[in-house]
Amino acid sequence: MGNYTITVLAGDGIGPEVTDQAVRVLDAVAKRFGHTFTYHKRLVGVAAIEAEGDSISEATLELCQKSDAILFGAVGGLPNYDGRFKVKPEEALFKLRKGLQFFANLRPVKPLDSLLNASPLKAEIVKGTDLLVVRELTGGLYYGHLEPPVPGKPSAIRRTEHGTDAIDTLLYTEAEIERILRIAFDAARDRKKKVTSVDKANVLSSSVLWRQVADRVAADYPDIAFEHILVDACAMHLIRRPSNFDVIVTENLFGDILTDEASVLAGSMGMLPSASLGSHKTVHGRLGLYEPIHGSAPDITGQGKANPIAAILSAAMLLQYSLGLKDEASAVEAAVAQTIEAGYRTEDLASTGARTVNTEEMGQKIATTLVAQA
Ligand code: NAD
Ligand code: IPM
Ligand code: MN
Repeated sequence: MGNYTITVLAGDGIGPEVTDQAVRVLDAVAKRFGHTFTYHKRLVGVAAIEAEGDSISEATLELCQKSDAILFGAVGGLPNYDGRFKVKPEEALFKLRKGLQFFANLRPVKPLDSLLNASPLKAEIVKGTDLLVVRELTGGLYYGHLEPPVPGKPSAIRRTEHGTDAIDTLLYTEAEIERILRIAFDAARDRKKKVTSVDKANVLSSSVLWRQVADRVAADYPDIAFEHILVDACAMHLIRRPSNFDVIVTENLFGDILTDEASVLAGSMGMLPSASLGSHKTVHGRLGLYEPIHGSAPDITGQGKANPIAAILSAAMLLQYSLGLKDEASAVEAAVAQTIEAGYRTEDLASTGARTVNTEEMGQKIATTLVAQA
């Protein structure tokens, strides 16, 4: 029985709707296992820009660093928002990821058997899929480098003598590539012992270096099967033969795109959680940022349609990686699976014969199932 502090950054759009349900399930974990979770709720995204003048304040960032873990909803994209402020709500994510050096983003994709028919792909193709995308999170195109450097402006729209242009640069150091590759190989040791490194080495210099470093790291892991795939081909293989993959490791933008694609395997964007980890240690484990892979979904905000399972499974990852509570994490995953097996579905997964529930009802069902398991 332990005491833990969690900073909760619910954010914009459906962020607060799904995060409320993740907190409800954490409360159920506390009740069943006798832990105390203290939540520090802070503003992030549009609300923080309006109230505090920035997408995330320095005070909130400091609080995050002192917590045992950070639970994040989503930021950005509210209707009529874009262009109203100079600061983008999404910058909060970059401040958290880069500021706290969360360089490894783990995105597991393990479709539930009872949701095989929720995917537009054939069930026999999806069946057996259990993969982990290890996305590099603090480098690449998201953090460009201009010469001469422009403080606070990693990329820029510029006026030149030839007209207006825009520049984004893609830089990776050998050290950045090596550390993310090692995370992937270490993860594969506890899984199906296979790593697929995804790049665009037929075009990009950063990918040529990526491939060289990957080959060198792979030599340290003779027990792990290893392959390179080009990213365009990977996008195809991911939906042709998803069950052949184990750990997929790739750079920032490729990982972003491939995981939205992979959510189709799980049935919905509302099903995929993530953990962002770095080297900050806490007394209980590693400091981490936990968030669904989806965004603020302005098209369904405020309608009770958001699927909270990605947020709830992100809370399970929080329990496992930052708090070291493996049994509790498994209990959350089991409660999610049982609730789906019992036929409850949010609208994104709705099918004939299913019992359609709203966001809050889904959270309540999962929390009740979790407590009832005891
Ligand atoms: P999105 O992920 O918000 O939505 C894509 C589609 O998936 C929409 O049709 C949405 O309704 C659906 N969807 C997403 N989550 C769902 C859920 N939990 N349940 C049911 N359906 C769900 O992507 P978008 O529309 O391209 O982006 C909207 C805003 O979100 C943008 O401003 C973007 O920058 C931001 N965004 C933020 C994060 C984040 O905070 N981590 C991640 C991705 C996008
Ligand atoms: C994600 C999101 C973010 C990203 C956006 C909102 C900046 O799409 O977490 O997947 O591209 O990393
Ligand atoms: Mn994304």
